[in-house]
Amino acid sequence: MQSSKRNRPVILLGASFIGVVIAACYAPVLFAASSNIKADGPRNSGTIHSHKRGDAKAGRDVFRFETFGDEGFWTDAARMPQGMMQSKITPLQLLDSGVQMDSEAIPADLKADISKEFKTDLSPANAPLLNDPQTTLKLVNANAVIGIVAKDSNGDSTIDIENGDKVGISCALCHTITDNSIFSKPGNGSVGRRRDGLTPYGLNVGKLLATAANSRVFWPILQHDNGGKTIGRAPKGLKPNSSEEEVDAYLSNPKYFPVGTFDDTPDGIGNSIIIQPLFRQDLAGPYGSSGQNAVLDDFSNTAYTILFDPTTLVSPGGRKFLQIMAGSDGIKLADSYEKILKETGVTGYPYIHARSGRKPGEEKSPVGLRVDNQKLLDLNAYLDSLPAPPGVHTDRTAEARGRELFRSHCTSCHNVDQSKPVPAIFIPMKTIYPGYRPVVMAKRKPPLSPVQNSPGTFDDKMIVVDASGRGEIRGNALPLLLDLARKPRFLHDASVIGLDSLLNPSRGLKAPHPFYLSQKSQRTDMAAFLKGLDTRQR
Ligand code: HEC
Ligand code: HEC
Repeated sequence: MQSSKRNRPVILLGASFIGVVIAACYAPVLFAASSNIKADGPRNSGTIHSHKRGDAKAGRDVFRFETFGDEGFWTDAARMPQGMMQSKITPLQLLDSGVQMDSEAIPADLKADISKEFKTDLSPANAPLLNDPQTTLKLVNANAVIGIVAKDSNGDSTIDIENGDKVGISCALCHTITDNSIFSKPGNGSVGRRRDGLTPYGLNVGKLLATAANSRVFWPILQHDNGGKTIGRAPKGLKPNSSEEEVDAYLSNPKYFPVGTFDDTPDGIGNSIIIQPLFRQDLAGPYGSSGQNAVLDDFSNTAYTILFDPTTLVSPGGRKFLQIMAGSDGIKLADSYEKILKETGVTGYPYIHARSGRKPGEEKSPVGLRVDNQKLLDLNAYLDSLPAPPGVHTDRTAEARGRELFRSHCTSCHNVDQSKPVPAIFIPMKTIYPGYRPVVMAKRKPPLSPVQNSPGTFDDKMIVVDASGRGEIRGNALPLLLDLARKPRFLHDASVIGLDSLLNPSRGLKAPHPFYLSQKSQRTDMAAFLKGLDTRQR
């Protein structure tokens, strides 16, 4: 087409890495992109691994409230509720950290009172309850703070965290927003009815972790100092003897631990990444930006058995896992962690209620543990059933132009139709990030790829964790292109602010995801198309 030739966007699939591409058998896929043939998606959609489904209704409770005993970690080891009480956290401060609140769980009187206060200027004079740390306790006890789950641990039939009851966390903490019906402020938390599966992009997970009175127990996911060297966003790493204040300073600095991200890899690397959407998981596999899990319930089990209770890492199964993943460095991590647990008086771990005796290092049971399988399958059913939000439409003709640009320039990797599963292919690091210059740090037993690092943050999640354990290449899995109108930052390392900037060639030829549109009008059309995407067939 004449016009598309004249306005040809800069698509940077240069010859220099075609070799890598051919080696990885991606030639037919990428050839389509460089020759600008219009298509609706890649020719090769990869192997989609299905998952079993239990009961979605039961899965909703698992998603919102199941902790499998992780309150042992969050209350006894991390001492999060104690820390919140000590620093007298008010409901407004929680909302400032991006926390979401379930209006339906707030006791009626309190709800009526705070609803009135939300309509004021929120000053202590006009909104006394919202500025009162006692109200925070009431909200937590009522299970109104989404994802922070209060349990009747002492069995007296009431929940009172000042009186022996504990709090744990559930999936909802990072994967739910509300309908804003009572309160919302852009970039902050909100109060309303739950909308499960949507990412709270304003959630400051690092700051929340820092409220714990014993943040040193987050050691495995912190950015470590390794003999003066460190990998992550902070210029200096933390040491096993770093103080509570030093750890808190790291966690609560959004330059190191960006808002809307969480560090989900226990690798001593500071690689906090964007929280992905958790609706329509039937469309989303492989799971995680490195595609580390082929099967949904394996990802969930990893969250429960490692992230919700990292003390499992010092158990024999945890040590085996760390050794498989990182050799002697993995064992060093377990040793230093055990020391920190001892120094900070943490006992009686691991806390998570899970079946042991499985083989460590497998996707089904990385640390040899598996929580109740039926509940994982119920959760699968719920996560599949959660709807994606409708696309946001501002200009349908711009969207139509954007769609055609997308069909000619983006469909070697992405599907146009988001009602279809995302292509289950892995994009080699070198293709998605031409500036990738990895230096091998440690060899591992094949098929695991070597541990390797390149400058910049884009590959940091994949330094230790990737899909090579099941014979896939080290690369980037494809994301759902859904709910993009709400998304402030793009790419899994949160490195790009706004869609225009994602598509703008000024980011440079070596930058991650260098698939650009040279003209402003094309970028506007593409952004309109992307924001309009939902799971209606197109
Ligand atoms: C503290 C924050 C946090 C909590 C709590 C959390 N997640 Fe996530 N979740 C993340 C982050 C960050 C990612 C992005 C991981 C990536 O891209 O590699 C993610 C991604 C996922 C994905 C991958 C989605 C995809 O499209 O590939 C799944 C599945 C998932 N989470 C399930 C769960 C489940 C199930 C729970 C509860 C057991 C849970 N998460 C709890 C932060 C969290
Ligand atoms: C070579 C494969 C490839 C091509 C070509 C490609 N993408 Fe992507 N895209 C990816 C991968 C892989 C990711 C995930 C990156 C990550 O996890 O950081 C991604 C991420 C995105 C995201 C960010 C999603 C998010 O939630 O942060 C958007 C938007 C996007 N692509 C749009 C486009 C557009 C528009 C084009 C064409 C101009 C395009 N892509 C071309 C592979 C590709």
